[in-house]
Amino acid sequence: MADLSVDIGKLHLKNPVMPASGTYGYGPEFDNFYDVSRLGAIVTKACTSKHREGNRYPRMAETPMGMLNSVGLQNKGVDYFVESIYPAISHYDTHIIVNVSDSTVEGYVEVARKLNTLEKVSAIELNISCPNVKEGGMAFGTSCPMAGAVTNEVRKVYEKTMIVKLSPNVTNIAEIACAVEDEGADAVSLINTLLGMAIDAEKRRPVLSTVTGGLSGPAVKPVALRMVWQVAKAVKIPVIGMGGISSATDAVEFMLAGATAIQVGTANFVDPMACINIIDGLDQYLDRYTFKSARELIGALQD
Ligand SMILES: Cc1cc2nc3c(=O)[nH]c(=O)nc-3n(C[C@H](O)[C@H](O)[C@H](O)COP(=O)(O)O)c2cc1C
Repeated sequence: MADLSVDIGKLHLKNPVMPASGTYGYGPEFDNFYDVSRLGAIVTKACTSKHREGNRYPRMAETPMGMLNSVGLQNKGVDYFVESIYPAISHYDTHIIVNVSDSTVEGYVEVARKLNTLEKVSAIELNISCPNVKEGGMAFGTSCPMAGAVTNEVRKVYEKTMIVKLSPNVTNIAEIACAVEDEGADAVSLINTLLGMAIDAEKRRPVLSTVTGGLSGPAVKPVALRMVWQVAKAVKIPVIGMGGISSATDAVEFMLAGATAIQVGTANFVDPMACINIIDGLDQYLDRYTFKSARELIGALQD
């Protein structure tokens, strides 16, 4: 049996598979399906400085091989997370990574400072790439100075592993990755959703209340794979790849392109066992090709 473990910043993950933020809840939602502690890590839904209602319905639309969402960072705020959610998930025998979002730099800093005190939260994932909020969100992730500035400010208050989650809605994603690496990010994760739109021809109206939303699922996989490959060549820090991963083969492809670990998003809605099937499938792949460690796959793409 191969060694599935990988390292991201100060984190030693038992395997490289984790759910993607916003597609998994917090962990207990999956207790009836499998032992959540088998995951490399849990990545939570976005956590903001204040309670957020999210956007008006409708905020989901099915698309060919994917979906559009405009949930808009709905959550009850960091204080609620600390008091009510953290105690309910801190027993899991795996890392907890909290996805941090906000509309202002001060908001990101406030959330990070509060999470820094929680022993069982081993890392934050700074979401500077949400396409579904009016202020902040993706704006931070689409300019090098802004991405660098928010990373720099959060770095001052957050001592543990800081992952920065990048937006694909840019011309040169490697440039943004280098900007956050320079300001102290321990790892980058990508991609967040691609900005898209759906129209109801019968009603002659947009499907989503926000008109535009974020596209995810298998439809975005080739774009995500290309971006992971480009970013992995540009930075020295680990890359966490995601975007349309729904099988172990997909996961292997992202690792070959340079990802150290991967996240599984929309596939959790199709099959709640997706993450576990990917862990098992990865193990079988490594055995089949007599690899001793999952780490041998990272960036091992041949010409
Ligand atoms: C319903 C939904 C909610 C999401 N919420 C968040 C979020 O709160 N924070 C975040 O960083 N990404 C969020 N995402 C983006 C995913 O984490 C992931 O980056 C994206 O969906 C691409 O992966 P996938 O194709 O495997 O779904 C959300 C995606 C979906 C579909």
